[in-house]
Amino acid sequence: MNSQPKPNCLLAWMSLVLTALLWGGCSDSSKTAGDAAKSDAAPRAYTIGMSQCNLGEPWRVQMNEDIKNAAAKHSNLKVIFKDAQNDTLKQRAHVEEFVSSKVDLLIISPKEAQPLTEPVARAMEAGIPVIVLDRRLLGDKYTCFIGADNKKIGKAAGEWIVKTLGGQGNIVELMGLQTSTPGQDRHSGFLEGIAGSNLKIIFSADMKWLEPDARKEMESALSRFDKIDLVYAHNDPGAHGAYLAAKAAGRTGIKFVGIDALPQEGVAYVSQGILDATFQYPTGGAEAIETALKVLHGETVPKEIVLGTRLFDKANVAQGGQELN
Ligand code: FRU
Repeated sequence: MNSQPKPNCLLAWMSLVLTALLWGGCSDSSKTAGDAAKSDAAPRAYTIGMSQCNLGEPWRVQMNEDIKNAAAKHSNLKVIFKDAQNDTLKQRAHVEEFVSSKVDLLIISPKEAQPLTEPVARAMEAGIPVIVLDRRLLGDKYTCFIGADNKKIGKAAGEWIVKTLGGQGNIVELMGLQTSTPGQDRHSGFLEGIAGSNLKIIFSADMKWLEPDARKEMESALSRFDKIDLVYAHNDPGAHGAYLAAKAAGRTGIKFVGIDALPQEGVAYVSQGILDATFQYPTGGAEAIETALKVLHGETVPKEIVLGTRLFDKANVAQGGQELN
């Protein structure tokens, strides 16, 4: 008896195997197509360039941290950080690098208004949306500006000082970089806040937002004036530098007011009695990512997002400060 399969039987069997294989192949490829469809539905990946003007102050370290934490909630977002180390030319180069590497969106916290205006305008012309954070540029060639109202903060500081000093006294004003808009606005707002009072600004200097510069300027003020009632510094590092100068010179009875109110910096200084008041200046980092996502998804966003502020002084610091309207 022959147990060998007949040739046409073998043929039928082989064609069956072949068909099964082909079907398997087909169903496999349909699975691949399904997978592709699924990955099409996955959110598109985006790269955001973040140009930070300086990381020398804790406030800017916090801003980057806020951006990083907000972006970490979206697996499709990648943020590339560049630190210009307080060098305007370096920051201009960073913006140009982000444009040539074709990031999907740019966030910038510019050191100065005028020199960063043109590179940002070029990014916009190249089709890259730009979110400007905290310090302004000139003109309107950007997608959205996010920041607190520095004029309002300066004015509130002026009014608080008028009230605290009973409308008279000698003031030292240590200003933020005057080629940056918060420095200009915190000054003009302050003048509005003290208008009509008998407060006298006896000494004023641009400490460029830097604690060591504020300390040096305060040393000159102390050597020139025997009676200083209060130092209004445009940021907390400035107020702290002035405090250290007064302490080193053995001068007492001077009040110190700053701006920023980071929990671990200005607010802690108020709790410790180093500063008399500080006004919160939110970093806007989280809001920048929220807005970036909207822009990347093609939604319209406002041209300007104004963040709120809080006052922290001895009377309210333990209760978490007081919101300013
Ligand atoms: C940090 C800083 C802050 C200030 C802000 C103004 O560089 O000086 O202290 O509030 O910038 O742009």
